[in-house]
Amino acid sequence: MALLTILEYPDPRLRTKAQPVSVFDAALRSRVDDMFETMYAAPGIGLAATQIDWHQRLIVIDVSENNASRQVFINPEIVSSEGAATGEEGCLSVPGIYDDVPRAERIVARWQDVNGQWQQGALDGMLAVCLQHEMDHLEGKLFVDYLSELKRQRIRKKLDKERRARATARPAAGGRTSSP
Ligand code: NI
Repeated sequence: MALLTILEYPDPRLRTKAQPVSVFDAALRSRVDDMFETMYAAPGIGLAATQIDWHQRLIVIDVSENNASRQVFINPEIVSSEGAATGEEGCLSVPGIYDDVPRAERIVARWQDVNGQWQQGALDGMLAVCLQHEMDHLEGKLFVDYLSELKRQRIRKKLDKERRARATARPAAGGRTSSP
């Protein structure tokens, strides 16, 4: 297994529309394992393939508290949805940012499993919200798109500042000397 790099907003590759998965083989299962490992390490509760720069319609989710409920959604579709649930969301591609996003409260979804078998289920609660969030990724959409342009500007500035801080911190840790 391998840890994969998660793309961060506003990386334009996050805007790519994912293609359907058509081959259900060992390479796909290996990719799923890598995505779970990457998601648990982050840590997060959901990861779409788009976020690791692989533009196929594949999502992994685990909303349990002990990493014991791995769920894989391949080529997912929402069959029906009802109700409204607005809650605070975050995203591994927008680290440290949380805000309210309007979602459907309950959905019926269908998807393929790692063997290509079609499954259908009624989802609610955090799982329903998480699947809607991850399905947006497959369309090149991020949760910050639901916010105002002013908020998005602030988020871009904050993330940019943090990336610059990380970039300058690294050489110093590698032994660069500094004078007072
Ligand atoms: Ni996300």
